[in-house]
Amino acid sequence: MWFFISFVVFFASVVGHSIPACKAPLTRLNDGNLMPRFGFGTWLGLNNDQLPVAVTDDSVQKAVEVAIDAGYRHIDTASIYDDEDQVGKAVNKKIAEGVVAREDLFITTKLWNDAHAREAVVPALQESLQRLNLTYVDLYLIHWPFATETKLPKPYVDIDYLETWLGMVAAKQQGLAKSIGVCNFNLAQMERLWENSSDVKPAVLQVETNLNLQQPELREFCHNNDIAVMGYTPFGSLFPGRAKPDAPPPRADDPQLAAIAGKYNKTVPQVVLRYLLELGVTPIPKSVSSSRILENLDIFDFQLDEFDRRQLKSYHNNYRVVDVKFFSDAKEYPF
Ligand SMILES: NC(=O)c1ccc[n+]([C@@H]2O[C@H](COP(=O)([O-])OP(=O)(O)OC[C@H]3O[C@@H](n4cnc5c(N)ncnc54)[C@H](OP(=O)(O)O)[C@@H]3O)[C@@H](O)[C@H]2O)c1
Ligand SMILES: *[C@@H]1O[C@H](CO)[C@@H](O)[C@H](O)[C@H]1NC(C)=O
Ligand SMILES: *[C@@H]1O[C@H](CO)[C@@H](O)[C@H](O)[C@H]1NC(C)=O
Ligand SMILES: *[C@@H]1O[C@H](CO)[C@@H](O)[C@H](O)[C@H]1NC(C)=O
Repeated sequence: MWFFISFVVFFASVVGHSIPACKAPLTRLNDGNLMPRFGFGTWLGLNNDQLPVAVTDDSVQKAVEVAIDAGYRHIDTASIYDDEDQVGKAVNKKIAEGVVAREDLFITTKLWNDAHAREAVVPALQESLQRLNLTYVDLYLIHWPFATETKLPKPYVDIDYLETWLGMVAAKQQGLAKSIGVCNFNLAQMERLWENSSDVKPAVLQVETNLNLQQPELREFCHNNDIAVMGYTPFGSLFPGRAKPDAPPPRADDPQLAAIAGKYNKTVPQVVLRYLLELGVTPIPKSVSSSRILENLDIFDFQLDEFDRRQLKSYHNNYRVVDVKFFSDAKEYPF
């Protein structure tokens, strides 16, 4: 009898919080909406000269299709990534094929720096929605806390992000974004936004989070205020090809990391993603390789022990991969 009751309770709790074929657990945001605790990144990143890799083919669309087939339900893009159209094509294709329904997906895009004026926010989102070929996004984020007059990179314009936030609130009230939040705000900026956003509070903070940059202060603030933390660049400098020459260890072949991974019969990237998940962070790893897309998602059948978590914690040294030094003279440069 007890078993039966436990089973029914377990089953009800799973069903009550589920998206068909979504591999990740869900969390309820402070505005009531649900978000899968694991997402898919779509930024192609920087090349060796620290310039954005140009989007020249349909590799992002293909990757998103593979990801949705594999069970990713949360996809991260931005107007500056120049690939919203590819994300949209993949999403609409998978909906047309009956693989997913729109309401089973959680799609994020971001407001670029040149549309921070309060009245520019909704039109910028409408343009993103047109490129995505969607009627709403699940999450709209302010990409950076500073504003520029043109797309890249300067001159700056003096628009307070509290003004921008009012435009974000309008986007939510019009149903164009189910939830709203910010990226790359530091603790002081988060506190100021929190204290001055009486109508609608940010639901999500997306910040770089990885072994070298574990964000203890921001995580604590967000935890205390029920803001979900989404972790970008979750692999940090793990991969030699991507690490800057001065990046501190560890790399993916670090013997201690390899030993932890071996203990769970997992790979180092899987252990890192699992660690972030257990910290309460929602990681959004990017890959355009089918096998790595599958590998990264396969982290929901094991749990790290206290000993290994302590080891993983010890790599924190505040080293940042995405420091956008070319914006470092902005008044609201966050880092
Ligand atoms: N809000 C912001 O300001 C901001 C900033 C940066 C990133 N983001 C978001 O966060 C997402 C993730 O961050 P990111 O792309 O910077 O970095 P990342 O996801 O930490 O790392 C991506 C790199 O790791 C490689 N990789 C992925 N899985 C792997 C695996 N299992 N084994 C070996 N290599 C693997 C990828 O190569 P392959 O593709 O060849 O597999 C790629 O070179 C972005 O795509 C973007 O959506 C947001
Ligand atoms: C937009 O999506 C719809 C399905 O919702 C599809 O029928 C249409 O062809 C798409 N438009 C473009 C331009 O891709
Ligand atoms: C925002 O909040 C802070 C802290 O409560 C306050 O000092 C400041 O005056 C507020 N700013 C605005 C523009 O309302
Ligand atoms: C270890 O993981 C691999 C890849 O997921 C799997 O094929 C293999 O069966 C696993 N081995 C054990 C002992 O569980």
